[in-house]
Amino acid sequence: MADASSHPVPLHVAIIMDGNGRWAAARGLPRAAGHREGARAVRRVIEAAVTHGVRYLTLFAFSSENWQRPAEEVQDLTFLLKHYLRSELTELHAEGVQLRVIGERERFGPVLGRELAEAEAQTAGNCRLTLVLALSYGGRAEIVAAARRVMASGLKPEELTEQRFAGFLFTAGIPDPDLVIRTSGEQRVSNFLLWQLAYAEILFTKVLWPDFSPGDFALALDEYAGRERRFGARPV
Ligand code: IPE
Ligand code: IPE
Ligand code: MG
Repeated sequence: MADASSHPVPLHVAIIMDGNGRWAAARGLPRAAGHREGARAVRRVIEAAVTHGVRYLTLFAFSSENWQRPAEEVQDLTFLLKHYLRSELTELHAEGVQLRVIGERERFGPVLGRELAEAEAQTAGNCRLTLVLALSYGGRAEIVAAARRVMASGLKPEELTEQRFAGFLFTAGIPDPDLVIRTSGEQRVSNFLLWQLAYAEILFTKVLWPDFSPGDFALALDEYAGRERRFGARPV
């Protein structure tokens, strides 16, 4: 695998897709309309990622903490997710996209849980782009779940390394993100990929997620290409 620091195109881009509610409010529309428009932006960005040769795209679609939102909004988001999966899977598969889900998917109930597992199985052999959907995902919950699995594995304390621990996370086998984009102007991580972001480049943009375009994606990649990644070493 190429060294990410010498690679102008990030191998793995992760996006905190934020600002759907504000996009809708600015138009006097219900929040659900913002989430619907956000799903359209997802389609565009997946295409852009494929076009630019990005190999892994992680999208933060629903956080562990988003369950605290009003039931109606949670229902709207769950409906949209189901609908998205059903309407897009065939095309994603045809495009060579492999789907992976990280998070506590079982919280969405057995029906959606099974559909997600089937979508993962159906696309498992694809390798053009790995699309990682973070659903009911929280970084701290992921680390605790991994620690539990480590304890249950019978591994001796001295046998645990960073690399082995990473293998117990939801993201096992997926390289760490090189670039994280957060839309909507908020400048925080909101419990996203806490372990995996150790050396990611972070880019905050004021663009609201439903407005995020392939052009914005290309600009983000340009900005990334101009960054100097050091990984703690002294530049020579
Ligand atoms: C992002 O948009 C979508 C989710 C978090 C599910 P928001 O719904 O957070 O939109 P804002 O932040 O209220 O504008
Ligand atoms: C983060 O956005 C989660 C997703 C984009 C899915 P939030 O809107 O939930 O985050 P906070 O509440 O502003 O930190
Ligand atoms: Mg938000």
